[in-house]
Order: sequence, then structure tokens, then C-alpha cells
Amino acid sequence: MQYGNFDPEKREYVIDKPDTPAPWANYLGSPAYGAIISNNAGGYSFVKSGAAGRLIRYRFNEQDRPGRYIYLREDEVDGKPSDGDYWSASWQPVGKPLDQYKSICRHGTGYTTLEAEYKDIRSEVCYYVPQGAEYEVWKVKVTNKGSKARKISCFGFVEFTCESFYEQDQVNLQYTQFITRTYFKDNFILQTINENCLNAVNESRVETRFFGLAGAKVESFCGDRAKFLGKYHDYGNPISVENGKLCGTLNYNMNPCGALHTVLNLAPGQSADFVFLLGQKRETQAKELVSRYEDAALPGREIEELKVYWHSKLANLNVKTPDDNFNNMINTWNAYQCFITFIWSRAASLIYCGQRNGYGYRDTVQDIQGIIHLDPEMALKQIKFMISGQISHGGALPLVKYSHNPGHEDKPEDASYRNSTGHPSYRADDALWLFPTVWKYIAETGNTALLDEIIPYADKGEDTLFDHLKKAIDFSLNHLGIHGLPAGLHADWNDCLRLGANGISVFVAMQLYYAFEIMIRFSKHRKDSATETKMNELKTRFGKIIEERCWNTDRFVRGITENDVVVGKPGDPEASMWLNPQSWAVISGFADEARGKAILDLVNKELNTKYGVRLMAPSYQKHAFDGALALLFNPSTKENGGIFLQSQGWIILAEALLGRGSRAVEYYLESCPAAQNGIADIRLLEPYVYSQFTESTDSPFEGRSHVHWLTGTASTVMVGCVEGILGFRPDIDGLRLSPAIPAGWKSLTMEKMFRGCKLNIKVNNPDGKESSDQKSGCKKLTVNGTAMEGNYIPASILKAVNEVILDL
Ligand code: GLC
Repeated sequence: MQYGNFDPEKREYVIDKPDTPAPWANYLGSPAYGAIISNNAGGYSFVKSGAAGRLIRYRFNEQDRPGRYIYLREDEVDGKPSDGDYWSASWQPVGKPLDQYKSICRHGTGYTTLEAEYKDIRSEVCYYVPQGAEYEVWKVKVTNKGSKARKISCFGFVEFTCESFYEQDQVNLQYTQFITRTYFKDNFILQTINENCLNAVNESRVETRFFGLAGAKVESFCGDRAKFLGKYHDYGNPISVENGKLCGTLNYNMNPCGALHTVLNLAPGQSADFVFLLGQKRETQAKELVSRYEDAALPGREIEELKVYWHSKLANLNVKTPDDNFNNMINTWNAYQCFITFIWSRAASLIYCGQRNGYGYRDTVQDIQGIIHLDPEMALKQIKFMISGQISHGGALPLVKYSHNPGHEDKPEDASYRNSTGHPSYRADDALWLFPTVWKYIAETGNTALLDEIIPYADKGEDTLFDHLKKAIDFSLNHLGIHGLPAGLHADWNDCLRLGANGISVFVAMQLYYAFEIMIRFSKHRKDSATETKMNELKTRFGKIIEERCWNTDRFVRGITENDVVVGKPGDPEASMWLNPQSWAVISGFADEARGKAILDLVNKELNTKYGVRLMAPSYQKHAFDGALALLFNPSTKENGGIFLQSQGWIILAEALLGRGSRAVEYYLESCPAAQNGIADIRLLEPYVYSQFTESTDSPFEGRSHVHWLTGTASTVMVGCVEGILGFRPDIDGLRLSPAIPAGWKSLTMEKMFRGCKLNIKVNNPDGKESSDQKSGCKKLTVNGTAMEGNYIPASILKAVNEVILDL
């Protein structure tokens, strides 16, 4: 079943069947004021923290309720009372029969519009958070499309939390139910929390929120949830809406709400425009805001501003391949999701309740990679920030707190850090993600000066960025396990692998090997031959041990436990084949072409499924080693042999680096959300965003996907596509163009901003090749009519606008 479509011109996903198999969400605002909204207006808002700054209620893991509701009620037709039928501007919560109620949800970049038509009344509500603002706007237009005059009552409703800590609000009822009350202030409801503390004990305890109406007159109001809903009534049939009037009760204790009623008298063809506003503001600010929105033109301007902001970022790469699913994802949705994961980290979603109070190190450093090709400046800020989350001994803080204060942070060695973050010790991979990320940034921008920039450590001292990277390598070298390979520590990328202080991780060994390679490139550029020699030696030394210890028969194993048990060898009854060590053997450059092809063929044989490549197989059930926490999950779920989608990006990249474009795109399409638009009832989640994992072959629900939006998948797949399939492989001096595409892609065009220059690229593939020839690079590459050497474009020859033609 299909519930919607992509609108590439507007960069919107358009849902025309509202009974989607899960709430399909969008992100408004930023974590400073964040609002998550589903296609049925479910969701919540918060200030600064989803867990500690919650404004309105949302019940996780339930029926996508409540949310930002607008109810419409027919009061009169041609001056005569009608039967009082009512509905909502979103299909839910009232849920009118879908043969009579037409609805369209447009999720866009920073806004969501819900259009509905019922009984000739059309409503259009655009929800957004103005650029940089810390409140939200619901822009409403109601139109009488019929031939008779109509009197329509319109009710806006939100359910405030009693207290900003959402858990307290839900469970500590003997306290939270008695600290809040509401007031009516002409055109807004004001909610106060701990209001007696104002001007008395501690003003910072006091919170005030408002729900306002501008552009229309408030006819009646209610600030008490129980009164608004009515006994044994629900969001779908509030008694006040049934009655056509709000009773004017304001809560004093128990549960508050914001409900405002306005009456619209609409002649045939006539519209009414007004807005509801919601935020956490003091009374005077609320008043000022509501009056500002009496300017009816303001919302239109603000929505346009949001579009310009986002679309101009997304425009920095625009591709036209023969595959529209690929185009829709790369041009808009995967790119937008990369920005959202970059900005929001794992802060809040309909799954994440907002409890993480910082940036997970590895997740964030990888998230950065997803936006480098679109907004390197934005990436740079976060790179520096994350570098300052490195401890002076080179290890990285598993969680860099939102309150991060470089030079003064405690660390996993300190109980205070462990208690406040829940992270017991170092992970083996965290700091190693800096290498690909810093490399990609410098290669995209040519900004090698960054390497000399001095950045503080989290605990004490400072160094140039280049020395930070050296320290990251030292950390790995100081934490070696058996056979002299990198120890698994608390975990590596895989949260479920406890290989310990002596057991070793092959994935990390590959990452370290790759780190040496990046350091060789940087030291060459810096003419730092001492470091170059050292890194070369380390690369050779580790290469030898990897060869001796990590290869078994026909594959790379996943790790070796401290008791010398090899994890992931052929013939093991469970977990005999693992994806990441194979893909990373290629990405790191450890595996040469022939071996790379052989192991990836084996991946294809043993791990590929119709929805993507499994993380490992067979799943653990009876033969797990002590540290294999994946056992906790059902087979084919998450790390226990599920299709972990983040890893799809790496296998796509690995296949593309080997020049096997057909298989890279085949893997891409297996798990591409857009390509699953027609099987939404199997996948469940939004066809426009990636999720964390998909249940695999052992599950009776193969193909079902979980944990939407905030996932590392967004960035790894983006990199797999941009660097891998599309073949943008910049280095310090220029750009190598090496697309790896299916034989069936006979031509494609790409527009890309690169170091301030515009590239208009045309790729011709009349002979149906899968990649550019490894030796010559391609048949021919011209830039502004001049033939290049191989498939390389020196940055120095670029003009403001460049016509690039690549003949494969
Ligand atoms: C989740 C975590 C990430 C981890 C991955 C694999 O996505 O956020 O840190 O690397 O799972 O276990």
C-alpha cells in the first residue's frame, strides 16, 4: 500500500492517505525550540531538552496522541443551526470516514502543512517554527468551498505538561498535579508552573507557557484538560467541541490545557486566516508575540524564509540519475535527514524521549560526514567542537555534554562523569572516526590550515588539530589487546560487543589502519617526513598482524576474545560471517582489489537479503560468547543479525570503491526508503527517511523497520552515494570523479558546489560501464573544453562556473 508521494519541485513528501502504518513525522525548529509533528498532528514540543524542557504532552509508544489539534464544528448553514457535526484539521484525532474526509499532509523542510476537506470546508494548517525562534506557529486558513453560508467554530488545543521534566510529569503525580494553573489573557491562555516562586524564593523555578490566537477573536476558552475533554470523552470527541463552546474553566491543580475557540462566518468562497501560537514565554513576551502576529502577512514571509534557508543548502548538490528514488533521497530527503541528525543528534524523536544530555562521540563525528558536501562551514564548527571532546591522552569522551566546557571536563576515569552520563569507560572506536571526518572536510574544502589550528582538550591542555589526531592514534596504541591488536574496550562501533581490555576488535584494527593512511596523506602535505615514516611503519606493522590474525580461510573475522576465541570464522554455528570487517577491509585500503571482490562476493552470498545486507549471520541463539550482548535481541533484530542500516552505507561505499556500480546501487535500492514507498505496510516507517534497522529473515515481520529519523544511517548512506556511487572523491589538491553506477545508467547529470565553484557535470555512459576504468580513470574528462589527465580535476583550474563532461 502506498500512502504518499515525493514532490521534488517543492521538496515535500505528500501523504494523501492519512491512515499511515505508523506516525510519519517531521522536524520543526531546532533543539533550542524543537517540535516534532506527525502527519496526524501528533507530537510534542520542548525547549532545549526533550526530557527536561517538555512543553506539551505526547504519549510514547501509544496511539500518536495527543498533539497540536485544531477542531472544526459546523454550527450553522445559511443561518440555520446544523447538526453540530465536527472534525479535526488533521484526520486524527476525530477520524472521519476517509470516503468523506480528504486530507493531504505535506512534510517540507522545516514546516508541515495539513490540508483537509470535509463537507465543503477546506482547512489548511501550516505548522512551523520561524527561523531562529523559540516558539511555534500554526498558520490556519479555513475556506468555505460550498454554495451556502456557513458558521464554523474552530478550536485550537494543546495539552501542557504540568512540569518540564517529562518523566516527572508522567509519574510523580502527587507533586506535579499541584504546581500549575492557567489564566486567560484576552487572546491567550497563560500557564504557570511553581508560580509562587516568582519574585520570592527562586525565580528560575518558575515556568510560564502560552497558547495564543492572533488574527481572530477568542469566543470562548478553557485551561483545564478534564473540562475540555469531558468525562469519559477522549481527544476524538471532546465534550467542549461537541457543545460548540468552551466552558471557561481554568485549571487550578491537576491537568492544564490551552484551548481557544473562534467563530468563523464564511460566505461561499470566503476564507478566514489566523494563527495559533505556542511557546514558553513570560506574560509580557507572550502578549507581544500574539500582537506581532496580527500582521497577517508575517507567517507567509516566515515560511518562505525557511524554504530559502533549507533549499539553498540542499541546492549544493543536485543530481539527475535515471533513478527517481535515488534522486529524491540524495537531492532532498537523505540530505535533509543528514542535517537533522547533525543538528539534533539523538536528542528527541517519537522513539528517543530526550534523555541523552549530550552528543554521542562516534555518532556525532559520523553525522558530520553527511553534510560536508553541502555545508562544510557548518561541519567545521562541529568538527572543532568534537575535537575539544577528546581527552589529553587521546581517547574521546563517549558523550560530550551539551554543557561541554573544554579544559574543565571530567572523564570516564572519574566517577562523576560515569554517574552523570551513564558511560562507564572508553570505547575503542570513538576517536578513530575523526580521521575519515577530518579527511573528508579538508578534501572538500582544501582548508589544510585547519590542521594547525589549536584546539583545547576536554580535560586539560591544548594542541594543534594535527596533534590531536596523533594523540587519537596513541590512545589506540596504548590500548592493545592480545596479538598486539586494538582492544575492544567497552565496545567498538557495535554497542553489543564486549571484547574487553584484552580481547581485540577487527573493525577497530581496520579503522586504525585507515587512520595511518590518512595521517600519511596529511604528513606528506605538511612535509613532515618523521610522522610520515612513523605512520608508514605502523601501517606495515599492523598490516602484518591483521593479515596473520584477522583473516580466516575466506573472510575477516570480527574479533578475538580475551580467551582467544575467534568470533566470526567459517563453520561457526552462529555469527560466522560479519559484514563490517569485510566492508572496512575495502574502505581502509587493507584488502586489495582481488581480495576485496572475493570477500564482498561472500558477503553477497551469506548476508544479502531483499531488504538489505545483514550485520551478521546466523543470529545468536545458543552459541554466543560472554560479551555478545546481541543475544538479548530476538534473532534478525538490531545487532543480532538484523539489517543494521548504518552498515549499508559502508557496503555500498566498499562496492563502489571496487568499481562495482551495479551491486552498489542494488544494495542501495534494497534499503532505500523511497524505493519502499509502495510497501509501506511492510516497512511501517516514513518512506522519506532512514531508520536504524530492519528486521531480517528470521523474523516473521521481515522488512519491518525501526527507530526513525535520528540514526547514523543518514550519513553513512549519503557518503556511500556521494563518494561511492556518484564518485566525488576529492583530495587536498582537487577532485577525482569516479562514478560507480549500474550498467543501465547511460547518462546522468550532477550540479555540485565545490570550493565556491559551480560544477555542471554530465556523465556519458553509452557503453554501459559500471565505473571508470581503474587505470586511465575514464575514456575522457573535459573541464570547460580542456581534456584532463585521467579522471582528476585540479582545483586550481576551476572557474566560477564549470562545464564538466565525463565519458566513461
Ligand atoms: C546505535 C548507536 C551507535 C552504534 C550502533 C551500533 O546506532 O547509536 O552508537 O554504533 O547502534 O551498535
